[in-house]
Amino acid sequence: MITPNMHYADLKESYLFYHIAQKTNAYLEANPEKHLFRMGIGDVSLPLCDAVIKALHEAVDDQAEKARFHGYMPECGAPFLREIIQDHYHKQGIDLTYEEVFVSSGASDELGDILDLFDKSSSAMVIEPAYPAYVDANVIAGRGIIHLASGKENGFLPEPDEEAKADLIYICSPNNPTGAVFDKAKLQRWVDFANANGSVILFDAAYEAFIEDDSLPHSIFEMEGAKTCAIEICSLSKTAGFTGTRLGYTVIPKDLVRNGMCFNEMWVRNRTTKTNGVSYIIQKGGAAVFTEEGQRQIRENIQVYKNNAKTLMEALDQLGIWYCGGKNAPYIWLQCPKGLGSWEFFDYLLQEIQVVGTPGEGFGACGEGYFRFSTFGSPEDTQEAAKRLVQLLEK
Ligand code: MLT
Repeated sequence: MITPNMHYADLKESYLFYHIAQKTNAYLEANPEKHLFRMGIGDVSLPLCDAVIKALHEAVDDQAEKARFHGYMPECGAPFLREIIQDHYHKQGIDLTYEEVFVSSGASDELGDILDLFDKSSSAMVIEPAYPAYVDANVIAGRGIIHLASGKENGFLPEPDEEAKADLIYICSPNNPTGAVFDKAKLQRWVDFANANGSVILFDAAYEAFIEDDSLPHSIFEMEGAKTCAIEICSLSKTAGFTGTRLGYTVIPKDLVRNGMCFNEMWVRNRTTKTNGVSYIIQKGGAAVFTEEGQRQIRENIQVYKNNAKTLMEALDQLGIWYCGGKNAPYIWLQCPKGLGSWEFFDYLLQEIQVVGTPGEGFGACGEGYFRFSTFGSPEDTQEAAKRLVQLLEK
């Protein structure tokens, strides 16, 4: 008889966002007349920008013409997209070859798949609170996990600890869920720590486009020595509204080598075996994001989400509730009022004012007592949710 991967039995019963969806669906079934103000999962509400839509339409037309039709795409990404992303990095002062840029079907897929590069015996460190897929993907692989807790005292941006070393280190900055962002000096200390210990940093840069403060790093490759210790995973989901369209990119420098094995070459081997590339149409749409027009249009959309953040932050200020994030990130991380636990606060908001957020405990034990709001909803819903929050909690 076949033996299943028994590590599945070590997972929590259901994935965080699935569990929230089940709870909210149950509420709607019982209260079909109610409208929910969804600020839970970070899913965008604005449509794709015009430049992307135009490129997608043109690509569909290409597929209708024998001379312009595309079948299988190169497994690691179409050169036209890899090159335009390479150029995007170059404009930020980061020089890469286009072979160091891999096109992916999205950051969450990639964060799971990339674990193929590391031995099962390697340990993974997750700075918590953290995006739950980091932990779950490693639990499924049977890997030992070091949970490095962070908190208010260090601004949710812990320093490396000589007593807590790991082979793989997850860093997400701007952070999901706390919205905290590593400055260059702090990120440099993690890079130096990884190089000194032979570790590899998996740098999740999915929210870099939300950084407003020019002194903060958008990419780990702004740090000295990062090319010998880091892989950067990026996404167009939040940057350009591709949550449903699915597209991302990953940078694996050729200088990233351990035990004589080059991770860039290994990833080429992996992709050519396990994928047939991302669809031509979607990659054409993605390339439009990096044009001048595309960049201007995605900035306009990002500004709408930033205005949502302001609306929510003003409400929290009015209520005197402690929070962080919201400025350089699309998430606001707050302390639950009235001493409520994070799932208690979730239920309270759902039942009383139909506002859906994400309980901090879902991002790790040290998230208990905290709560996350996503700012990706519509401005109308966000304003109404902010008004309801004030009315409820001012009482
Ligand atoms: C979140 O809400 O944390 C994200 O939307 C989840 C994701 O990107 O998969």
